[in-house]
Amino acid sequence: MLTYAHHGTLKSATFHVFHGSTLVAPPAGAHFPIPLMMLMTTAASSPVPQTLLDAPLAKGPGAAPMQRQLHHRFKEAILGGHLAPGSRLPGSRALAEALSISRNTVTAAYDLLAAEGYVQPDRQGTRVAALSHPAPPRGKRQAPAAPATSQRLTGIQASAPPADGTAALRPGVPALSHFPLAAWRRAIDRAIRNAGPSALGYGDPPGEPALRASIARHLGIARGVRCDPAQVVITEGAQEALSLCVRLLTNAGDTAWIEDPGYRGAKAAMRAGDLHMVPMRVDADGLIADENDWKTQPPRLIYTTPSHQYPAGAVLTVARRLELIAKAQHHGTWIIEDDYDSEFRHAGEPIGAMQGLVAQAPVLYVGTFSKTMFPSLRLGFLVLPETLVAQMRTPLDDMLRGGHRHEQLALAEFIESGQFSRHLGRMRRLYRDRQQALREALTRHLPMMHVIEGGYCGLHLTVRLPACYPDREIADAARQHGIAPAPLSSFALQPKPEDNGLVLGYGNTSAELFEPLVRLLARLVRGVKV
Ligand SMILES: Cc1ncc(COP(=O)(O)O)c(C=O)c1O
Repeated sequence: MLTYAHHGTLKSATFHVFHGSTLVAPPAGAHFPIPLMMLMTTAASSPVPQTLLDAPLAKGPGAAPMQRQLHHRFKEAILGGHLAPGSRLPGSRALAEALSISRNTVTAAYDLLAAEGYVQPDRQGTRVAALSHPAPPRGKRQAPAAPATSQRLTGIQASAPPADGTAALRPGVPALSHFPLAAWRRAIDRAIRNAGPSALGYGDPPGEPALRASIARHLGIARGVRCDPAQVVITEGAQEALSLCVRLLTNAGDTAWIEDPGYRGAKAAMRAGDLHMVPMRVDADGLIADENDWKTQPPRLIYTTPSHQYPAGAVLTVARRLELIAKAQHHGTWIIEDDYDSEFRHAGEPIGAMQGLVAQAPVLYVGTFSKTMFPSLRLGFLVLPETLVAQMRTPLDDMLRGGHRHEQLALAEFIESGQFSRHLGRMRRLYRDRQQALREALTRHLPMMHVIEGGYCGLHLTVRLPACYPDREIADAARQHGIAPAPLSSFALQPKPEDNGLVLGYGNTSAELFEPLVRLLARLVRGVKV
């Protein structure tokens, strides 16, 4: 017979427990209250563990349902090795009485434990199942060593602690407060109303046909990209498009050329694909690749940002574009053209995409809505060469699941209704003004020798500094003040002395802030001089 005080704490007991099939008497001289766990202790000689079952079950508002609490406690006791395989759980009626809960609650908890394989019912009751996992040693618990992770991860290192996504001067962030949220909310509402629950399923793996068609049309007009909707694959931002290119086009160990300094996300995708990365220098005309490079280390893949080299800002000249395409065709090389921010052209004639320069060029065009819309939308796209569409259909169907369907439909409508182009026009003017203000502030308030690069388009300027002002130290100091310029050297696989400087984002920073920010930067630059 069991007697319980309030909250299920055992007050008195004359109860026998079982170990295997052996009936065991309660421990001699046991004083009450006895931990409830003693009901299930496996041998009189084994120390009674302090277990989860010692504490009363929680009751009242906000408490988890009794059945869940009971299930959880038994599960923990079994996994923790406190209930040995073969030991018997108390009868459901006795336990229900002991805990002042309904018998149904106990049987439901036992049933769930049985369904999950923690216990096995037999004719005499319920026994703890033999689990193959090693029970942790009693007493001091030691976490077992975790299995090894991939070696390639060691190559992906953070260049700096992640900065606040909205910190001033952070590169690559668009003017978030200028995004027409109300218009976007209406587009989303319309998409949900029109497509309804039918768009809650997975959807077409390469994306919503409406959005693929809108993108193909927009790219043809705005970027000179030659494609039809069947070539467009919607991705989770440019990053997924880059990872897809690596997975679809390369084998581990293949050589990939990457601009140096260059985009870290592209390097991460290549590392994850176990590619052999060859850093390629860039100058004022973009990526440099000479005859010797093609002869000594011909690549399977080239990553380039031809319309606005990231982060140095050069434009790959037409002569180099044509040369790169011709050589790629000759060597069986794929070229990834990352056109991440060239919608925001600030000076001169728009520069068309490399993809549209030569028919049947082996170019995979990658784009993103992270800058033109907002980064958390996580929508980007990949334009496959026509020759790859049929071959990639099956792998892509297996690798992708569609998704974000209402957002994709809303975006298609946003583009088709002209709202996207109007937003781009407004942002282009805003960024032009912000860039101008940043340039003037640099000229006026950064007294040490420096060279400003880029600025034809996009959302950032790159400022090279003499090596006596180490850029990582400046960026660390800036972070203490809540601002986030990026050190230029952190973009290089093999940094050279000239890769010292700051990448300054002006997209999400108001023009009137540049004067005080550059004065502060100048102070920080002076402070790190070696
Ligand atoms: C060169 C480059 N490519 C692509 C992206 C965009 O990536 P995502 O679309 O994954 O946000 C960025 C973002 O900063 C970038 O700098």
